[in-house]
Amino acid sequence: MKVLVTGGAGYIGSTICSALEDNNHVPVIMDSLVNSSSTFTEGKKFYKADISDSKALKEIFRDHKDIEAIIHCAALVIVPESVQKPYLYYQENVSKSLELFKFASDSKIKVIFSSTAAVYKSSEEQMVTENSPLDPDSPYARTKITIEMALRDFCNAYGSKAISLRYFNPIGADPKMRSGPSAETPTHILGKLLSIYEGKESDFKIAGTNWPTRDGTAIRDYIHVWDLAEAHIRALELFDDLVTHENPYSVINLGSGQGTTVLEFLEAFEEVSGVEIARIDSSPRPGDTAGAYASGDKAWDNLRWKPRMSIEQGIADAIKWNRKVT
Ligand SMILES: NC(=O)c1ccc[n+]([C@@H]2O[C@H](COP(=O)([O-])OP(=O)(O)OC[C@H]3O[C@@H](n4cnc5c(N)ncnc54)[C@H](O)[C@@H]3O)[C@@H](O)[C@H]2O)c1
Repeated sequence: MKVLVTGGAGYIGSTICSALEDNNHVPVIMDSLVNSSSTFTEGKKFYKADISDSKALKEIFRDHKDIEAIIHCAALVIVPESVQKPYLYYQENVSKSLELFKFASDSKIKVIFSSTAAVYKSSEEQMVTENSPLDPDSPYARTKITIEMALRDFCNAYGSKAISLRYFNPIGADPKMRSGPSAETPTHILGKLLSIYEGKESDFKIAGTNWPTRDGTAIRDYIHVWDLAEAHIRALELFDDLVTHENPYSVINLGSGQGTTVLEFLEAFEEVSGVEIARIDSSPRPGDTAGAYASGDKAWDNLRWKPRMSIEQGIADAIKWNRKVT
């Protein structure tokens, strides 16, 4: 199947493009390169254009009349920046997505949208299903839920079909080292540990040691970016079974289904890297929560997909990628 991947020059979009090719599909990339370079587009069909550029969109569909789906990864993704520049984030993420979805629904093109687990309300209940309460706590996350709601409304009103995939915490790089996170990509705990590993920072601050978790440190759900990419292939191939005329819109969590605490992640990093990381206990930062992990039931039932790669593999691939690019 030929698929338009918006944001296909970025971290996750480029990995999805490699997974598409490995599964005999054809990606066509549309990316403005606002937060990436053309490196990951080499050898692929690539249009350097903003998703709001309707002329470019028409050109792409004129050149590739057989595009059947859009995987919409393009977005601004930096949470602190979204707090400072909400207008920019709503304009770039929400307004521009609306134009893309209008085009998709007019052309009856399937849509798979990159959403985030950051839309969920944090609670004592740490396992999150697709029906858990929502309460996105940053402008970035609010743009994502706004886009999801618009997408659902479009499907109900215009007869189009879409799936939103809510990613938990992607880590690692393409195991074949074709792409990976750029230095600018916020990679949270793993980014910090890599900086310490490379001697750029000295100590690892554990933000909170009294959370209601098994060792007192916060919990997250890490998913290898390759597993994440493969879930998109399943969603694409099973699309017509998953969303129908009666139920044209669906939401699926993509996580490992397992919570990992900060201490557990730290230990995994030490084991994989062979380096002991100096650590300091510190207070939680504003907005920090105990965290959550995904229920993988719906992904398993619907996509017949389970992640295959361990956290250790994600860490090893991230270290290998870092060595390759630095
Ligand atoms: N990385 C994560 O931790 C994470 C977690 C949950 C969800 N997501 C979602 O996954 C998607 C991909 O994230 P990523 O980590 O690969 O980010 P990224 O910044 O590496 O990739 C985003 C790409 O979109 C492009 N882009 C941005 N605005 C554009 C526009 N208006 N027109 C065309 N191209 C545009 C950028 O140039 C970049 O190449 C995003 O939608 C993000 O919200 C990411």
